[in-house]
Amino acid sequence: NKAQAWSALFSEPMSELVKRYTASVFFDKRLWKADIQGSLAHAEMLHAQGILSAEDHAAIQRGMAQITGEIEAGQFEWKLDLEDVHLNIEARLTELVGIAGKRLHTGRSRNDQVATDVRLWLRDEIDELSLLLRALQSALVEVADKNAEVILPGFTHLQVAQPVAFGHHLLAYVEMFARDAERLADARRRVNRLPLGAAALAGTSYPLDRERVARTLKMEGVCQNSLDAVSDRDFAIEFTAAASLVMVHISRLSEELILWMSQSFGFIDIADRFCTGSSIMPQKKNPDVPELARGKTGRVVGHLMGLITLMKGQPLAYNKDNQEDKEPLFDTVDTLKDTLRIFAEMAGGITVKPEAMERAALKGYATATDLADYLVKKGLAFRDAHEIVAHAVKTAIQAGVDLSELPLAELQKFDARIGQDVFEVLSLRGSLNARNILGGTAPEQVRAQVARHRARLA
Ligand code: ARG
Repeated sequence: NKAQAWSALFSEPMSELVKRYTASVFFDKRLWKADIQGSLAHAEMLHAQGILSAEDHAAIQRGMAQITGEIEAGQFEWKLDLEDVHLNIEARLTELVGIAGKRLHTGRSRNDQVATDVRLWLRDEIDELSLLLRALQSALVEVADKNAEVILPGFTHLQVAQPVAFGHHLLAYVEMFARDAERLADARRRVNRLPLGAAALAGTSYPLDRERVARTLKMEGVCQNSLDAVSDRDFAIEFTAAASLVMVHISRLSEELILWMSQSFGFIDIADRFCTGSSIMPQKKNPDVPELARGKTGRVVGHLMGLITLMKGQPLAYNKDNQEDKEPLFDTVDTLKDTLRIFAEMAGGITVKPEAMERAALKGYATATDLADYLVKKGLAFRDAHEIVAHAVKTAIQAGVDLSELPLAELQKFDARIGQDVFEVLSLRGSLNARNILGGTAPEQVRAQVARHRARLA
């Protein structure tokens, strides 16, 4: 079987079943650009080091340019017989330029080649994801700005707790996505290191200039141990962990959007273009996008589990197991990109229903803490104030009214120090405005945060 790079030693061709089982070309062909980029950098260095002639170098450049054109035009013929993206491109190169193509692999193994390709590919995907994360943050910041004064019941235990500004609530997600962007940027530093020069596992006897290749590929240095260089997939796991957190944040937001849109809450509506109907119930409009995103979170977290389990128990150095790193990684990137894009778009399609939010905030004695704080300012100890307000809430519940609807005389039975000024304190707006502390929910603080985020994202 001439198609195989190692055929001389083998006395029979590979079984068809094994060929299909071991081949990766139908998914790893998407690494083609990185593969050519890496090969060109390697060839340039081989020439600079006097290992490859100027003619051979030029032939390789010419061949790779043609292959690039063929792949871009969809005319490149990917062959299962040639197993993976690396062997497919190398075979075509040799077809096109002859012996120079056969010299390209000097001082290189597919083991350091594939590790380089995946890193180059992932680095560029991280850069795209960072832009998408920024766009999502910006979209949320704009919705937050418009809703800096809109009052939402804040929940703990999904029970009404204290009023918060809807804008403040959205900015909590902006904080999460900002941390996600930091995590991606940090992971990128370890992705962006060069394995080439490690060859199969032990390094190579050719005088390669690894630093030069790293510079050409705009990498932040070379992997310092050849065994580690070919067998390290930490960078893929780290990335997928950061991606999983992005999805977890998306999923939490999704859960809230779904709840808020349900009739029992009725806090928001999501534009029709992001929803679907029912084939049986004519009245239905379902928030499919956030539901699906919540579901896809499981998929990405699953990829993290897949990758981390893939590495467990692998002896040094390269093992074929590592070929299994690609599909989870590719799917993680694809899922994340689509999800971030659609959420940035959907943010602008959210209609807020402030009256419904406010009505809900009025239902759960959301300003009880404010009454306790009021009593503390009148001289009570907080624990005593807490106790007194609990009695007041009980009375209000029995009367079926809000605390602010109890007459002053009634409130004064709980503590004589309560005055007319209590009603401002008991109002949702009073409660909101009172939390005018860095990181708090007062509209003034929300606006300051909006300004900070805008400057940060500009
Ligand atoms: N397709 C392989 C992978 O994705 C490339 C490296 C194969 N190396 C080897 N010696 N079999 O990991």
